[in-house]
Amino acid sequence: MTKRVAVIGAGPSGLAQLRAFQSAKQAGADIPDVVCFEKQDNWGGLWNYTWRTGMDANGEPVHGSMYRYLWSNGPKEGLEFADYPFEEHFGKQIASYPPRAVLFDYIEGRVKKANVRDWIRFNTVVRHVSYDEASGKFSVTVHDFSKDQEETEEFDNVVVASGHFSTPNVPSFEGFESFNGRVLHAHDFRDALEFKDKNILIIGTSYSAEDIGSQCWKYGAKSITVSHRTAPMGYKWPDNWKEVPLLQKVEKNMATFKDGSTAEVDAIILCTGYIHHFPFMEEKLKLRTANRLASADLYKGVAFVDNPALFYLGMQDQWYTFNMFDAQAWWARDVMMDRIDVPDRDTRAADVVDRVAREDAGEDDYDAIRYQGDYVKELIAETDYPSFDVDGANEAFFQWKKHKKQDIMTFRNNSYKSVMTGTIAPPHHTPWKDALDDSLECYLAESKS
Ligand SMILES: Cc1cc2nc3c(=O)[nH]c(=O)nc-3n(C[C@H](O)[C@H](O)[C@H](O)COP(=O)(O)OP(=O)(O)OC[C@H]3O[C@@H](n4cnc5c(N)ncnc54)[C@H](O)[C@@H]3O)c2cc1C
Ligand SMILES: NC(=O)c1ccc[n+]([C@@H]2O[C@H](COP(=O)([O-])OP(=O)(O)OC[C@H]3O[C@@H](n4cnc5c(N)ncnc54)[C@H](OP(=O)(O)O)[C@@H]3O)[C@@H](O)[C@H]2O)c1
Repeated sequence: MTKRVAVIGAGPSGLAQLRAFQSAKQAGADIPDVVCFEKQDNWGGLWNYTWRTGMDANGEPVHGSMYRYLWSNGPKEGLEFADYPFEEHFGKQIASYPPRAVLFDYIEGRVKKANVRDWIRFNTVVRHVSYDEASGKFSVTVHDFSKDQEETEEFDNVVVASGHFSTPNVPSFEGFESFNGRVLHAHDFRDALEFKDKNILIIGTSYSAEDIGSQCWKYGAKSITVSHRTAPMGYKWPDNWKEVPLLQKVEKNMATFKDGSTAEVDAIILCTGYIHHFPFMEEKLKLRTANRLASADLYKGVAFVDNPALFYLGMQDQWYTFNMFDAQAWWARDVMMDRIDVPDRDTRAADVVDRVAREDAGEDDYDAIRYQGDYVKELIAETDYPSFDVDGANEAFFQWKKHKKQDIMTFRNNSYKSVMTGTIAPPHHTPWKDALDDSLECYLAESKS
């Protein structure tokens, strides 16, 4: 009887899993029956932009955390698919920091070519996954909104690719109840124009803080104050931008920080990260991990230690993204197709301990990039995913970090070399801070000159 595989989510990770199986099929292999469940009505995961916040049209929590005018925060040369370069998709090399719509188009191009849309049941949320030791099968209960019907099916393997940047981590601060302005989490941020001419306070110092603050600056916020718990970001910020210690309290519109300083603010944006949240997984199958490079409880960062018929993709904190999800998906595919053996439980658990220790031994972001690059190398060496120059991709990330340090508002004007095709990206002729139109048409037209 044909094996059955359930994939939860049709974002970049879930689509990588579909493409991995399809490429094996194309090469003549017998592949399992693969069913992907996607709660939204289209693929692309976070890259499938929604204006909605709160609940979606089906009464489910909105998945989308992306906002208008979002441009890639890292160089595209670090995320390029090895089996589908940018030049193949666009018919030419494009600039290094594409906006969201361009990356969505690229992600979609590969899976359209692979012809796997029929493998996906859209508008179908996974509600419960359990495992029966006796039969060795997973039961997957879903709600299909197009039929308004609940269904349960059995599978031999489950691949969880539901992402981990959608359920916000929302701390509270004294005085929020009576603050005379809007308090929101980055997950609900959509359009920087809402904050034009406003004094905004951002809590947090990671990518959301940096990018949402930069967006608000670009689209005309009056001032940006960023409050840190651990350390300031330390970039050379524009004149109307300051970094302050952690917020202590707000009274009406006045914010007071740990050093006693104050600022009058109109809105507060909590860029305080996300939590891994899998309410649909049976307790014994639930991944519990922090947002780090060495995820807890995943052998090779992918197979659940306590049940290696279950896989989680893309659960690490991410320098590498699309091609790392590919590496994971190809590896998971090969385990499911009995091409790779998984060792006993003790060995699996020891693998996690080793990964955590190696991550902890790293001293800075450069070590972290090398660590994740080595991880990608390790996985692709065990499969037929096209090999690529991971050290070259690391180099693009190193350059990116250097360019950010030089000037945080101009780093996206730089170009890097594709490790897939060897070509250097053309410069984008409009500097990022002046490029207010983030449409695909505008980006590609501009890239021509
Ligand atoms: C604001 C923001 C900006 C980012 N920018 C970049 C960037 O510039 N470059 C970069 O490389 N990465 C970026 N990322 C990182 C991002 O995590 C990855 O690029 C990528 O989207 C992760 O893919 P994924 O498939 O693992 O998860 P997601 O993209 O989150 O996709 C998960 C999918 O699972 C579906 N799903 C969830 N739960 C269920 C369920 N119960 N049943 C059915 N379907 C379900 C969702 O609807 C979604 O389609 C960004 C992340 C955020 C939050
Ligand atoms: N344009 C883009 O491409 C773009 C834009 C935005 C986000 N992203 C992506 O989105 C993902 C998530 O990034 P993120 O910045 O949202 O999350 P994150 O990297 O997990 O960072 C969370 C931040 O919140 C702070 N924090 C958490 N709890 C706090 C509390 N109680 N009080 C004060 N501060 C608190 C943390 O501070 P400590 O340092 O003190 O722990 C940290 O600075 C990343 O993959 C990123 O690349 C991309």
